[in-house]
Amino acid sequence: MLKLAVLVSGGGTNLQAIMDSIDDGRITNAEIRVVISNNAGAYALTRAEKYGVEALLLSPKSFDTREEFNQKLLEALKEREIDLVVLAGYLVVVPPCVIEEYENRIINIHPSLIPSFCGTGCYGLHVHEKALARGVRVSGATVHFVDEGTDTGPILLQKPVMVEQDDTPEVLQRRIMEQAEWVILPKAIDLIANGKVHVNGRKVTIDE
Ligand code: GRF
Repeated sequence: MLKLAVLVSGGGTNLQAIMDSIDDGRITNAEIRVVISNNAGAYALTRAEKYGVEALLLSPKSFDTREEFNQKLLEALKEREIDLVVLAGYLVVVPPCVIEEYENRIINIHPSLIPSFCGTGCYGLHVHEKALARGVRVSGATVHFVDEGTDTGPILLQKPVMVEQDDTPEVLQRRIMEQAEWVILPKAIDLIANGKVHVNGRKVTIDE
């Protein structure tokens, strides 16, 4: 049974998609052990409590130094024997000590087809504003493994979503969440939980 930690900062619709997928069997061999947020007001924490899973508030602002926060986050993961860390709208930079300890065991959902519209400062609505400003006809979402860079780790799954002529950033964001994020993030977890994903350097292979 793959033990998951889901890290969140906002509304938690991706977390909800994971919980729903565990309940309806789209995800097997995995359980959420803890939901961790840096934001006390994150509705994702409420979703976790309603689901009956531990909701842990861990904010860099609560510590004198960033290093203290980094160590506390790593400890929180290790003492719960977490196997896979899932970033689901987590807006805190993942500490190097966590990335080192969880090499190829941290995944992130990004709301574009990486390498388009990603990198430092490109998150949330900014991603969709840039996509619309560029005039792309197709956008989508990406699940990738997290390395020391920003949105630079090996790609696991992607799903395209058509951009419509009169899209606003908010409308495009919602369509990408509904049609792509909430589909490929649970799928990625199920594939990993069932031993079907193999990472070799930058290359990811998936057993058919
Ligand atoms: C999603 O758009 C995701 O792509 C991005 O942050 C947002 C999180 O939304 N990383 P939610 O908290 O899962 O609703």
